[in-house]
Amino acid sequence: MGNNTGNGLNRISLFSKFLLLACLNWLLFRWAEADAHYYDFVLSEKNFTRLCSTKSMLVVNESFPGPVIRVHRGDTVFVNVHNQGYYGVTIHWHGVKQPGNPWSDGPEYITQCPIEPSSNFTYEVNFSTEEGTLWWHAHSDWTRSSVHGAIVIYPIEGTTTPYPMPDDEEIIILGSWYTEDVNKLVAADLETGADTPRSNCYVINGQPGDLLPCSRESTYRWVVDYGKTYLVRIVNAAMNAELFFAIANHSLTVVGMDGNYVKPIISDYIMISPGQTMNVLLTANQSLSHYYIEIRQFDTARADVTDYDKTNATAILMYSGDYTAPDSPFFPSSLPSYMDFRSADRFLDSLRSLASKEHPVNVPLNVTTKMYITVSMNQLLCPNASCDGIDGNRLTSSLNNISFVNPSTDILLAYYRNLSGIYTTDFPNWPPSMFNFTQEDLPMNTTIPIQGTKAKVLNYNEEVEITFQGTEVLNASENHPVHMHGYTFYVVGSGYGNFNNETDPETYNLVDPLEVNTVGVPKNGWATIRFKASNPGVWFWHCHFDRHLSWGMNTVMIVKNGGTPETSLRPPPTYMPPCTLPYITWVEDFDDSLGDVN
Ligand code: C2O
Ligand code: CU
Repeated sequence: MGNNTGNGLNRISLFSKFLLLACLNWLLFRWAEADAHYYDFVLSEKNFTRLCSTKSMLVVNESFPGPVIRVHRGDTVFVNVHNQGYYGVTIHWHGVKQPGNPWSDGPEYITQCPIEPSSNFTYEVNFSTEEGTLWWHAHSDWTRSSVHGAIVIYPIEGTTTPYPMPDDEEIIILGSWYTEDVNKLVAADLETGADTPRSNCYVINGQPGDLLPCSRESTYRWVVDYGKTYLVRIVNAAMNAELFFAIANHSLTVVGMDGNYVKPIISDYIMISPGQTMNVLLTANQSLSHYYIEIRQFDTARADVTDYDKTNATAILMYSGDYTAPDSPFFPSSLPSYMDFRSADRFLDSLRSLASKEHPVNVPLNVTTKMYITVSMNQLLCPNASCDGIDGNRLTSSLNNISFVNPSTDILLAYYRNLSGIYTTDFPNWPPSMFNFTQEDLPMNTTIPIQGTKAKVLNYNEEVEITFQGTEVLNASENHPVHMHGYTFYVVGSGYGNFNNETDPETYNLVDPLEVNTVGVPKNGWATIRFKASNPGVWFWHCHFDRHLSWGMNTVMIVKNGGTPETSLRPPPTYMPPCTLPYITWVEDFDDSLGDVN
């Protein structure tokens, strides 16, 4: 009997050992093998009513904003995009580095041609070190105003965030609303050279909120429980505006930005540039009531140019429970005013990378390529003042005085197949001439850029430093949120005025600089970034104000292969949307039977 019992116990302990091992194995497996997820995005036109008027616009899966993608760090997502709309579109996974896989990055005519109506294309979105919040959006015309959504990236299972687990989370997407078909308006303006349209209002999770006409009923409401802490994932998907954001009576603890962690900072407002995301903790510790969540534009253009969108979009944070709600929610008195540079700077200056053992910073210290890039508004002269921009000219914009022109076959394909005549590799490291970039009333000859499809070629693993210099050319200085595809970079310094290459580098932060995918280059100022060119491929960079993007404030970075399969650009997938012009489609050999080969 005694023996039997003993054997039984042994068996049990053996069994539990086995269980433990199995669990460990499973965990190890989870760590080693990232998950694959599958999504279907159906693009179609749908009617939406805001500000008392109805229009049709392109959206994903009939929703605005579109569906949320949820993954763990390191996962892969396959998104099959079915275009049931009327025009060609592409989708970009903003901030996802896609190691070696620019084929699925999305910018139209840079890494692919548009997904034409009635066709589909499956993106393979490869997550690597990103953790936090990113987003996806259309990368064709101004379709991104209605085609965008959040990407939520949890830590790998078994690991945790560097801050205490919140009780719950909330996604807040900030956007721009246009009463008319914005692509039509923009196409007309690009034709005539006129300024592009202003949005009619801002929206929070697709809604303008109480303060705007015909919007009270549909105001976005977020119900919270007293005592709980929430992680708020904020995305600035607005088309042309940096935004201030605040919640009445509640302080915000910023803990992440652009898919990276930051040192927690407490503030009663934030300023967020288009393209950026911020993760913010909020504790519901105020008296049971209703509180406005409010946004307004941070406008940095000329003070005498006052036609920017001055609407204040609102949502309502409401406590659950039994209480008498106030007639009107509380307003956030901490929300800065439109041109409050001081508040914007105070907030931005306080942001630092977490720089912990688990989440270290690796700022490149042996810079091999240095670039100085001017970021300017410009004009192209029109004969007999026949255009609709300033003085009858055509509005445009540039980087290092080059206004980017989209090719008709994507640059990635041209690079991979060695096709000539699509782009050139002479994007310069310096502006063509040095002058006092931040002085008012600069001479006429500084306003006219050259047009071209010029790329910057970098060797694998080069350590790159770029100083972006904002200019007052055309008396049109403002902040520029510059975004790079395929990479994050460290913002090692920034300041107002012309960059001084002797004294300013002494102020660089190489210890805990922000690691982001989009940096606001200050109005009439500069920002210096550093990164290691460790992701081979063709990567777009551009100002994330869509009007500047449409006008050519863009360029392309080609990073060469590193010499091993792991350090090389992947071969293309078997199907890419064909480029119908000028002479190539996605077939190795020309085939006369294919209808759309020209
Ligand atoms: Cu969020 Cu090229 O863009
Ligand atoms: Cu810009």
